[in-house]
Amino acid sequence: MRNLILPGLAALLAAACSSGPRPAEIAVIPQPARIVESEGFVKIGPDNVRTAVDTAMSNPEGYRLRVGDGGAEIVGGSDAGVFYGLQTLEQLRDSAGRAPQVTIEDAPRFRWRGMHLDVSRHFFPKEFVKRYLDILAYHKINTFHWHLTDGIGWRLQIDKYPLLTQKAAWRKVKDAKSPWIGLELSDESRHDSADTYGGYYTKDDVREIVAYARERHITVIPEIEMPGHSEAATFAYPEYACPTARPGSGIYCPGREETFGFLEGIIDEVVELFPDSPYIHIGGDEVGKEQWSACPLCQKRKREQGLKDEHELQSYFVHRMEEYINSKGKAMIGFDEILEGGLAPNATVMSWTGFEGGIKAANAGHDVVMVPLDYVYFDHYQGQNPCEPQAWGGYNNVKRVYSFDPVPPGIAPENEHYVLGGQANIWTETIRTPEHVEYMLLPRLAALSETLWSDTTVKDWKRFERKLDRQLDRYAAKGWKYAESAFTPYIAEQRFNGDGSLTVKLDTELDGYPVYYTLDGSVPTQESAVYTDSIMIREPATLTAVTFRNGKPTGCTLTVPGLLNKATRAKVSYATSYNAAYTGGGDTALVDNRYAFKRGDDKAWQGFEGKDMDATLDLDSVQSLSGLGLRFYQHIASTSVMLPTRLTVWTSTDGKDFTVAADRAIEPNDDSEALIAPFDVRFTAPVEARYVRVKAANAGVLPEGHPRAGAPAWIFTDEIVVY
Ligand code: ACM
Ligand code: ZN
Repeated sequence: MRNLILPGLAALLAAACSSGPRPAEIAVIPQPARIVESEGFVKIGPDNVRTAVDTAMSNPEGYRLRVGDGGAEIVGGSDAGVFYGLQTLEQLRDSAGRAPQVTIEDAPRFRWRGMHLDVSRHFFPKEFVKRYLDILAYHKINTFHWHLTDGIGWRLQIDKYPLLTQKAAWRKVKDAKSPWIGLELSDESRHDSADTYGGYYTKDDVREIVAYARERHITVIPEIEMPGHSEAATFAYPEYACPTARPGSGIYCPGREETFGFLEGIIDEVVELFPDSPYIHIGGDEVGKEQWSACPLCQKRKREQGLKDEHELQSYFVHRMEEYINSKGKAMIGFDEILEGGLAPNATVMSWTGFEGGIKAANAGHDVVMVPLDYVYFDHYQGQNPCEPQAWGGYNNVKRVYSFDPVPPGIAPENEHYVLGGQANIWTETIRTPEHVEYMLLPRLAALSETLWSDTTVKDWKRFERKLDRQLDRYAAKGWKYAESAFTPYIAEQRFNGDGSLTVKLDTELDGYPVYYTLDGSVPTQESAVYTDSIMIREPATLTAVTFRNGKPTGCTLTVPGLLNKATRAKVSYATSYNAAYTGGGDTALVDNRYAFKRGDDKAWQGFEGKDMDATLDLDSVQSLSGLGLRFYQHIASTSVMLPTRLTVWTSTDGKDFTVAADRAIEPNDDSEALIAPFDVRFTAPVEARYVRVKAANAGVLPEGHPRAGAPAWIFTDEIVVY
């Protein structure tokens, strides 16, 4: 204790009488439990760092770190504690290798500090997995949840069942009948596949990765999905799916006794490959039960076992697998759907759909890991700018991740200890490259690590925000790619004033960086106007804004065209009605100068189901018009929203006699991912008119080859700009 108090007093005294510049704030992520600073810096190199283990320390992952005259000394509760002390020391050192004189006492809040990676939807090579582990270790993450199998690809060598990695290969295809890219199973060997839909880890690869993780005090938890999410496996071995199901249906048959033998054979090899993991993760999520309802073997099993429904049949399946896994000396963990039909007796629950499953399980005395998708799914967007790469959906920015607390209200205080911790997940349906994985991981992982490591009493968003600035420089020095989304300006608020002007308020997720903007569409520089409190717009404008960090533009540019255009606040009447669930804000939606993001759930989209968009704008007076601009959304892969097939514009001076001003067909766009298509409809010559009618023709019934073939197409639009 002497060492802890005396330097602290010295620092206080020094601060009181010092007139020099303030030393930089200690910026360690995750925030240590207790820091006592004193004056001065010490150069730290390989020769003056001493480490020791003190097993009497209450938390084996804890450590004490002292930087003093002679160098640095780290005492850990175990080797892991020493390792974490070294991570902290690395962050204390400046570019000249000097660390402030300081004493730190630290230990994690949670013992499960996890990060997941889906290597099924896209395969990531062994070398990248190691790099991923480096990044995790740097953030004091101690658990790597390796999602090795799923519908699209089985990524783990299993000697007993070689077809798992040899037979079923998903390929990217262009179907002759349909212009859209899709995925199909084929008999080709994954080895030959040129893109990231192919590939698997050999047993040697796995041993190498597990050893690499062990050196970084990370436990690798293997996940073998069952009974659902197993298309590749049931394509390679259809004899373990229901006899009534098509090949590659993706769900194992619990009516067949052989299914259990098959899965037990796989578990045997997995147990052998992952000696460090106390757990086998069985997934267990999102199992459609229709195949079981239609399967005579499943129905027979239900009758014999006295199971009331398909949920209980799933529970029977999970119980049996748990018994087997337990018999191998391992514990079973699964996603919260394993609660359906009754939880297996020793199971740990990974709660992803929200906190509810975890609360229920903890209150029933089961261990829980919290991974609620609305906080810690890193496949969700982290910014609202159209520059963001295609993501699954949702919106979890850094601040949202930071606000995650794995122990929600609802867990009785005496059951809180069942919450082992939390984790973030990266599903890779839309993530094809290692660079993209890193982009989705950083800097959100910094927020996650502080949430999982640091006690709530030392968590502080404002301090974290300042520390993040330094953390990004560290990432850059290490060559790790990170997202700058948190710097990108966005419109936080906008309102029309009584005099017809428009007030726009901007914000950025991270405070403290200057935002420069222009209103004439030009690229902002540091000579442009600097944003302060709000922007008053009095005449037609395109707002362009960008944040600067260290004298350079950072993040993406916000561009908002058509502010205060001739259509702004026009009276709109509709010949076809917009859908009640997608009003976009109602009758003013197309003229309110609010633009939607490329996500179908953005409230600014106005939707028309199975019908044209046909709207007439009253501009209030006859004006000279030369054209208009409008935008449409399309997302083939997961919605029925399609671009219109034709755009027709009429004008009128009296609202009765309309003349066609423009009429053009729209080429279909085959891209299956989310897109926003802007259209500029220029009149052949300026027209004097007060009324503008715009009709966008609906694509009709979705054709063969579309994922929702047969359903009516929707139109989504957000704004009409008349110039
Ligand atoms: C999950 O995201 N389906 C666990
Ligand atoms: Zn069956």
